[in-house]
Amino acid sequence: MNPTQSALPDPALESLLAFWADGGVDAMLLDAPIDRIEAGKFVPPPPPTRKPVVVAATTRPGQPDIGAVMAQAQAAAAEAQDLAQLAEAIAKFEGCPLRFEGAARQAVFSRGRADAPLMVIGEAPGPDEDAQGAPFVGRAGQLLDRMLAAAGLTDRVFITNSVFWRAPGNRSPTPAEQLVCQPFVERAIALVQPKMLLLVGASSAKSLLKKDDGILSLRGRWFEWRSSTGDLELPAMPTLHPAFLLRQPAAKKRAWVDLMTLTERLDRPERPA
Ligand code: URA
Repeated sequence: MNPTQSALPDPALESLLAFWADGGVDAMLLDAPIDRIEAGKFVPPPPPTRKPVVVAATTRPGQPDIGAVMAQAQAAAAEAQDLAQLAEAIAKFEGCPLRFEGAARQAVFSRGRADAPLMVIGEAPGPDEDAQGAPFVGRAGQLLDRMLAAAGLTDRVFITNSVFWRAPGNRSPTPAEQLVCQPFVERAIALVQPKMLLLVGASSAKSLLKKDDGILSLRGRWFEWRSSTGDLELPAMPTLHPAFLLRQPAAKKRAWVDLMTLTERLDRPERPA
């Protein structure tokens, strides 16, 4: 077989390349260099004609311009006048690659009260969420529910994620995937109007707060979340992900302290203006 040909059909090859790229493999090297110019086989490629990427995020060759996709997401999110319309807009949105790469069944948007004082934002749906169409319904979600119940928050939360489709192999969503879903997350916050946000896990905290610190340094601290347009601001607290707590039960007490700190502020009487 000619080494430039592949036995794999194109979609399988693309998916394999995307898998390697996600794992950080972005170049393939032979053991010894081949001087193709010397061999007379090299045809210089034409100069690139693609438009520059508008937003600083990774876009692989062949993928759509992330700025254009975000503009689509912003327009679709802005049109939604309530949560039902927002759920519909997300289900129709085709700009997030996870929809085609990871999700087996459906978009997963939210559960909980539409007028909740607390919004919980996790990382991404997993297989149970993909199957059932609601966030945090698997083992990690059941632990989250037990913690919220113990803190007296069961009926006071709206729960969603930083992206709305399961990622392949349950990997964390990439910053670019979170970025294209961000307009929908921000619209959900604008519609629910919670008093504060609980950011569950490193991936959610980093994406919402635009911070690069580890979750062990972010957790339990108050930050000011700001919408990308700057017109919404809310207190936000990162905490440990319940999936992490299932693996490291000794860390549960730290998550509990976070929840207590958050509940104390949620229940603090507001000072008269
Ligand atoms: N983990 C998350 O971050 N979100 C879910 O919805 C489920 C598991």
